Amino acid sequence: SNAPRESHTVHHHELLDITSLKDLPESYAWKGFDRFPMKDSTAPVTIPVIDLADPKAIELIGHACKTWGTFQVTNHGIQKKLLDDVEKASRELFALPMEQKLKVSETAGGLPGYGQARIASCFAQKMWSEGFTVYGSPLEHFRQLWPEDYSKYCDLYEEYEKQMRKLAAKLLWLSLGSLGISKSDIDWAGQTGEFETRSAAIRLNSYPSCPDPDRAVGLAPHTDSSIITILHQSTVGLKVLREETGWVLVPVVPDALVVNVGDFLHILSNGLYPSVTHQVVVNRTQHRLTVAYFYGSPPEVKVSPLSKLVGPCETPLYRSITWQEYLIHKSQDPYSALSKIRSSA
Ligand code: SIN
Ligand code: FE2
Repeated sequence: SNAPRESHTVHHHELLDITSLKDLPESYAWKGFDRFPMKDSTAPVTIPVIDLADPKAIELIGHACKTWGTFQVTNHGIQKKLLDDVEKASRELFALPMEQKLKVSETAGGLPGYGQARIASCFAQKMWSEGFTVYGSPLEHFRQLWPEDYSKYCDLYEEYEKQMRKLAAKLLWLSLGSLGISKSDIDWAGQTGEFETRSAAIRLNSYPSCPDPDRAVGLAPHTDSSIITILHQSTVGLKVLREETGWVLVPVVPDALVVNVGDFLHILSNGLYPSVTHQVVVNRTQHRLTVAYFYGSPPEVKVSPLSKLVGPCETPLYRSITWQEYLIHKSQDPYSALSKIRSSA
């Protein structure tokens, strides 16, 4: 079973080079998730696809956030070339020799660099994936990975960050707009409504083809700690949980990006927009790469449910907390972090 493990430290020697394995090691074999016994949805449901140019986009986004916690967007304004270039660069990154990648290994606690997903430390079994987190200025990391041409990669990720930040802010204000919230209701939102670069991280995910996909797990079920996450995928593997029907595979819609409601939008909206639980499955033939953009609040800002969304005689559902503090709860136990900050009645 998936009993939580005592230690939260990920040791380097645990990072096997899974791309070269012909059999699934027992340490990578899972027997389902005790906490999520739901099966794949048999109902013919698909997550909403919303055209940002649609005049009804604001209502559609609000509805999707309430009922699914996830949707896909088209006409988002991010050029296909940029998405392709970043995917290609992450393919190059993960293809580097293990010794090279370990030079920029993440320290425990999920700081920038190469390593396993933050939730990895909560399970005895290992996940069939590797990742790289770009946070702040990745210059030093990139210099160690690609001594010859690191600046090319720096420019690329800087551009990606800039464009994603704009889109994330737009999506945030659309989703909150449909609840009657505007920029002036959040005192830590600047005039443009975009948050600073320290409020965001890019996570590159790699899921190599797997000799025994039915027993392996790419990424165990979790919610994101962000306000919203924007995911670029060009092959399938992501499944979202829909309470009424079960797990639903997120299809690849050409030129669309996947948007997930994270825990901080859940908190801000006083529970009106629940963060979506999702997981990643792996497959036998394809090496899947994804790029996630996590958009959060400035790390030291106290965030609480928006007062306009709390009735005059009600207590906000959650206590105020900074993103930084929340991430600590989350790394201790990802499944109880939200309930830990719930206000007692
Ligand atoms: C994530 O959950 O952060 C990544 C999802 C994916 O790679 O599909
Ligand atoms: Fe996630």
